[in-house]
Amino acid sequence: MTSILHRDPKNSLPLAVHGDGVWLEDSEGRRYLDASGGAAVSVLGHGHRRVIEAIREQAANLAYAHTAFLANEPSEKLAEFLIDRAPPGFGRVFFCSGGSEATEAALKFARQYHHARGETERTIFIARDQSYHGATLGALSVSGNKGRRTPYESILSPCRFIEPCYAYRHQGENESLEQYGRRAADALEREILAQGAHRVAAFIAEPVVGATLGAVPAAPGYLARVREICSRYGVLFIADEVMCGMGRTGTLFACTQDGVAPDLITVAKGLAGGYQPAGALLISSEVHDGLIASAGRFEHGHTYIGHPIACAAALAVQETIEEDGLLGRVSRAGEALRSILAQNLGPLGVVGDIRGRGLLVGVELVSDIDTKAPFAASLRLHARIKQAAMSEGLIVYPGGGCVDGVSGDHILFAPPFIARDDDLEEIGRRITRAVQRAVESEVAA
Ligand SMILES: Cc1ncc(COP(=O)(O)O)c(C=O)c1O
Repeated sequence: MTSILHRDPKNSLPLAVHGDGVWLEDSEGRRYLDASGGAAVSVLGHGHRRVIEAIREQAANLAYAHTAFLANEPSEKLAEFLIDRAPPGFGRVFFCSGGSEATEAALKFARQYHHARGETERTIFIARDQSYHGATLGALSVSGNKGRRTPYESILSPCRFIEPCYAYRHQGENESLEQYGRRAADALEREILAQGAHRVAAFIAEPVVGATLGAVPAAPGYLARVREICSRYGVLFIADEVMCGMGRTGTLFACTQDGVAPDLITVAKGLAGGYQPAGALLISSEVHDGLIASAGRFEHGHTYIGHPIACAAALAVQETIEEDGLLGRVSRAGEALRSILAQNLGPLGVVGDIRGRGLLVGVELVSDIDTKAPFAASLRLHARIKQAAMSEGLIVYPGGGCVDGVSGDHILFAPPFIARDDDLEEIGRRITRAVQRAVESEVAA
């Protein structure tokens, strides 16, 4: 019996009662290796003493103070920490409670920036197919994830979509990765010109596409070319690092690996690593000053922005990652995980591509490796894998629709940064048994 409207009301879920390191435990005593950090949230694993202590201390000192009346120390410190480490030119942070709120803030900031500066016709956002930027109506409007949009299509705000940068599916046979990256980015310029550059407000993209495509990093040069195009036409560039940021790909901000500084960056998930709901919008000084000089203030806010306990938890998470040198570990562990997956899953004959950056790793499954033909969407292989993995005591984040929004199955791995080598080996063994069972049940069906 439950009074909760669960995500899937037909299936009852195990009751999580305890978390320790990379493990979660349910009320029946079953243990699950958290190989996706939930949805790329858990970075320090579960039950981290330092973070728990920071939350306890902050709750005892000051749980809440409304930001219309009072500033608070944890949010000031966290903002300074992030700005000190952000790409060049970043000067301000707007805190919120999650990824969707961060996207809303980015879209509204971009719009108000143009409006305040007299470019009132700039109302169009450009985004990419097979992307996800959040569940709220504004964020969903710029999300290319077909399944999540469908019931709401008619009440979403207009947005233009270009193809994602997805080398496994779209790179030409005689094209280098760099050539492909440039070609994919040039679609943005064509779309801006088709809409009329003076009407475009911003372009939003995930530097490494997370759940919708399964850890697909931008091809070399893609984001730099996007940056160039946006600057040329006065279009703001929003990097959605809700999933790929905060160290998940081996650097605090994913876009620095592409040598790019966007105008706006959104982060959430790993920011407080699941210990508190927390998100943030980072704003370049130029764009911030442009809006403030013209409009005086950002016309936006929520009750819980800059929440002291959320910010204290996030600061403890981020300081721990830095002091424990975990980002170096992320890059090494990511490589190790990809090779473990290749060795274990490879022999099953259904692995089309293993990709990702750092500990954001994706495996795309195909029914024919040579032709890259996906499994039939009706089989819902990804859902079978999720189920089979759960019964193996493994939590991964499989998804469907990577090929065209409907077909294509992938599995996303995003273990906590503290995962040890033997944890990675265990992930390899358990996911192999789960995929084997799911594929066999598909053949039997
Ligand atoms: C890239 C990206 N942006 C935004 C969001 C929305 O974040 P939230 O679910 O915290 O609202 C997500 C969530 O999965 C995401 O992966």
